[in-house]
Amino acid sequence: MTILGINAYHADSSAAIFVDGKLVAAIEEERFRRVKHWAGFPSMAIEFCLKEAGTGFDEVDHFAIGRDPKAKLINKMLYLAKNPGGSFSAINARLKNSKRVASLETELAILSGTDPSFFKDKINKVEHHQSHLASAFFASPFEEAACVSIDGSGDFTTTMIAIGKGNQIDVLDSLDFPHSLGIFYTAFTQLLGFPHYGDEYKVIGMAPYGQAIYSEKLKEVIRLTDDGLFRLDLSFFRKGTEGIISYHEDHIPVVQPIWTEKLTRLFGVPRKKEEALTQYHKDLAASVQKITEESIFHILNHVQKRTGLTNLCLAGGVAQNSVANGKIKSNTAFQNIYIPSAGHDAGISMGAALFVQHRLLKHKRMPAIKSAFTGSRFSNDEIKAFLCSGNMHFCEWEDEDLFDKVTDCLIAGGVVGWFTGRAEFGPRALGGRSILADPRRADAKEILNVKIKRRESFRPFAPSILREYVSEYFEQTDEVPFMEKVFPVKESKRREIPAVTHVDGTGRLQTVDKEVSPRYYNLIEAFRKKTGIPILLNTSFNENEPIVNSPADALDCFLRTEMDLLVMENIIVSR
Ligand SMILES: [Fe+2]
Repeated sequence: MTILGINAYHADSSAAIFVDGKLVAAIEEERFRRVKHWAGFPSMAIEFCLKEAGTGFDEVDHFAIGRDPKAKLINKMLYLAKNPGGSFSAINARLKNSKRVASLETELAILSGTDPSFFKDKINKVEHHQSHLASAFFASPFEEAACVSIDGSGDFTTTMIAIGKGNQIDVLDSLDFPHSLGIFYTAFTQLLGFPHYGDEYKVIGMAPYGQAIYSEKLKEVIRLTDDGLFRLDLSFFRKGTEGIISYHEDHIPVVQPIWTEKLTRLFGVPRKKEEALTQYHKDLAASVQKITEESIFHILNHVQKRTGLTNLCLAGGVAQNSVANGKIKSNTAFQNIYIPSAGHDAGISMGAALFVQHRLLKHKRMPAIKSAFTGSRFSNDEIKAFLCSGNMHFCEWEDEDLFDKVTDCLIAGGVVGWFTGRAEFGPRALGGRSILADPRRADAKEILNVKIKRRESFRPFAPSILREYVSEYFEQTDEVPFMEKVFPVKESKRREIPAVTHVDGTGRLQTVDKEVSPRYYNLIEAFRKKTGIPILLNTSFNENEPIVNSPADALDCFLRTEMDLLVMENIIVSR
């Protein structure tokens, strides 16, 4: 049984393939197209998945599309009737996108060279938030769990709560667009001077520099409600019918300004990109983050009480708020939490496929998905052939010697591009396509920003830590395989690892498991043996672009920046 999941014509388009219940491959289209958040039809991701599964279109039993235009149709019509108008371009863009979604059979037919009728009975449309929920619950180790999905919006829903049990997910409640925690966060992200799709993580990074002194004022904008959800005061936001995210011919998601003048009267005019960040901006960021956390905990506490369950599965764009995620256990009665590596919209492809596999085909549950390494892979021979074709000088080393050279370089203040095994599915580099540095260096952040990243100075870098040492360095001990939670670093340890300790004493850790990433584990262990520190600074292997996917992307990034070493499998390219 082969199921191909697809997220198309939505940000972070992607594909995922399951064969006989097992995840074989999952990847974002942006990795091939080299355009962040690419939102068109994921033809290259689909072809990659089929190749990994060693199969063709004709052997796919089900196509699972994480989109159902018929979902909440009546609610949608009522909303449009109550909110007539909208700009011509917004309506036009919406119509164009709907047509594209409707023509998926044609797209698949073109890609496969088959008649569209072949796909007619094989396409299953799965609602956006049910796909999010499935991506978390069916990939989790739990037989039963409360399931929550929170994002900007998808299929006219912004928040969905459910119970997952065995191969079922039963929806308990959902909240309609435009009452959205994602829209709330994005509006303030724009006000703070970050206009691009996906910029919200910058606000998360900036928040610890401020005091949440505007929290009460923000309660005029968002109100927690007795039904365990929340409502926005919509007068602070532009009408949803005027368009929020648009996808044009270049398939780059563009977020329109979503605030009204009323919001700027209360919180000031939007900061321009070139304007300095003041303490006001930092305090506002801290306040927005605090209210968002309170809203998430309000939803979760309600679901927890309603279900009586202590296992939680969480997905959706807002579930990428790693600072909030790290506080769930201390603010709710949930004891075990599973958040998939691609909790954002790329995970929709995987979720739609898992939904079809379990809900529709009644497949029995498989072991939990603990690895995000489902993307591209290249052998030493392929890498060498590529480097030879470009007349690049390189050396090949056995693992032990290679770890020795890499750790020496790191200890000497070097920055290393680390490309090994399969690429990660999801926004975080987890030691497959990472840039590494020594976490002990107080100047590591500056070195990285000068040599490679050139990003805002307030943004922290993250620690990869051998899982056995988490309790030694962090206030909380938990599995964090996908860098999805932020925990306080123990006060006594903060001076040991300044490069990965944020201004508020926290770190967005990744626990490295020998079973899941043996090579990355062994590299960190080699570093520990030399320094006593079981941690490396890990940031994504890219420079203002999607994470590198191929040796060509990695070499290009290496040559464009001032990285000291490029390591691809057992090959080292140095300057
Ligand atoms: Fe979503």
